Formats: sequence, structure tokens, C-alpha cells
Amino acid sequence: MKEETKTEHTTADNGPVISIKGLAKSFGSNTVLQDINMDLHKEENLVILGKSGTGKSVTIKCIVGLLAQDKGQIKVFNEEVSTLSEDQLKELRIRIGFLFQSGALYDSMTVRENLEFPLRRVLKLRDKSDIDKRVEEILEGVGLPDAIDKMPSELSGGMRKRIGLARTMILKPEIMLYDEPTTGLDPITSKEISELIQSMKTNYHVSSIIITHDIACAKITADRILVMDSGTIVAEGSFDELEHSKDKLVNSFFK
Ligand SMILES: Nc1ncnc2c1ncn2[C@@H]1O[C@H](COP(=O)(O)OP(=O)(O)O)[C@@H](O)[C@H]1O
Ligand SMILES: [Mg+2]
Repeated sequence: MKEETKTEHTTADNGPVISIKGLAKSFGSNTVLQDINMDLHKEENLVILGKSGTGKSVTIKCIVGLLAQDKGQIKVFNEEVSTLSEDQLKELRIRIGFLFQSGALYDSMTVRENLEFPLRRVLKLRDKSDIDKRVEEILEGVGLPDAIDKMPSELSGGMRKRIGLARTMILKPEIMLYDEPTTGLDPITSKEISELIQSMKTNYHVSSIIITHDIACAKITADRILVMDSGTIVAEGSFDELEHSKDKLVNSFFK
């Protein structure tokens, strides 16, 4: 896999790339987030474990400004997200990549066209050789150089996931948000995707939040784990630390 030279954006200091303090969010009478405090450090893989419905997806939607918080601070690259204009949010979202569960590729486009799409639309690239080079590089990066002329329907679930990741990573985000990246995949494919997430950190120096309840994925990817429950963070530690926790809830994820 090739090393990428990273275009450095400026962050004011070497502090966390994401810093969340006292985040609260309700929907009507449904209080989802009560008091979330967390930092994501540069080039860190931070795993968030939590039961379904605890507000993990809501948290990442608040981070990118798709949902507005009721209370608290969310700083991304040292800027409070809730104060950003629509244009500034657009800029921010170029620097943050998502991998949602569906990975949604355009079925009527080849892999190459799927990958060219964000380059043309988001980065407004027009130079054919530059575009080709980036497409080839990222396909190499996700281990699928031979898939370039295939249609999504010709790919397995795991391959589609890889192309979905390539389509996000082609924009060279500094932060990646993975929402349940291995859900619905068989154990072997899950392991491959987890290893790929790990290689994104090593090869592209990206900082990532990985939401999962796949403990095998956490073991491969996590530098640090947060356990979320009832809208707060209830435990924090390395995989090894949490694996031996006496806490019943924490323990339940490791079974
Ligand atoms: N846009 C929304 N409007 C109303 N309720 C929502 C919305 N998004 C999420 N919720 C509620 O917030 C809670 C947490 O959802 P979510 O963050 O998706 O959980 P998970 O931890 O499984 O990702 C759920 O009760 C869900 O119904
Ligand atoms: Mg979710």
C-alpha cells in the first residue's frame, strides 16, 4: 500500500481534533444525550461501544452539524460547530469523511465513476490525469485495484464496503466517522474491513471515531474505547483494560 503525502490544514495547536463538552440532545420528551464529554486526538482510532438506541449516531450527527445540540460544546479543529455558517459547514464536511452502514454506491455507475464523482462534484477537479491518478491510488489503498471497471452489482458486500470507503477517503479527510462499519458482514469480511480501517490510520494519518458493537472490530482498531450508555460515557480505557472490567454493562460487550 502506498504512503500518501498529506496536505496539512491548519489547526491552531496540537490539541484534540474533536472536543465535546457537556453535550445534551433531546427529541421532544426523549432525552437521548445527557452529558457527553469526549476528545478525539490526532491520528487516534477511538471506538465507541454502546447498545442500540443509546445515541451514538446522534452524537456523530451533532459533530458534523446535521443535528443541533441543546447544550454543550462541540469543537472540531478548534471551531464550535454550532456557530458555523452553511458554507463553513460545507467546508468542514470536506475535511470529515463518513462511512455509513449502507455505504450507498451509485448502482448505475462503474467503480471508477463512483470514485470520480466526489472529485468532480466536491473538489471540482477537471484534470483527467489527476483524477485517474487519485482513483487508481485510492483503489490500491483499499486493496481493490482490479475492480476499477466493475459495476457495484458485480461486487461482494465486503468489496462494496471497500469501495464506499475509497469514495470517502479519495477526498483525503482528516477525520473519519465510521458508523457500524462491520454490521451485516460475515466474520471474515468484518475482520478484513477492521484491518482496512486500521490501515487508513497508518497510511493516511486520519483520526477516526468508530461506532460499533463488534468486539472483534474494536480489538483490531481501537487505540482507546469509550462505552456509552443512557446518554453519557460510562467507561473509558484500552481494549485490555475494559476486557477485564468488573462492570456488568462493560463486561456484556466482551462476551
Ligand atoms: N431525527 C430524530 N428525531 C427524533 N428522534 C431521533 C432522531 N434521531 C434519533 N432519534 C432517537 O434518538 C435515540 C438514539 O438514536 P441513535 O443515535 O440512532 O442510536 P444508536 O446508539 O443506536 O446509534 C433513539 O431513541 C432514536 O429514536
Ligand atoms: Mg446508530
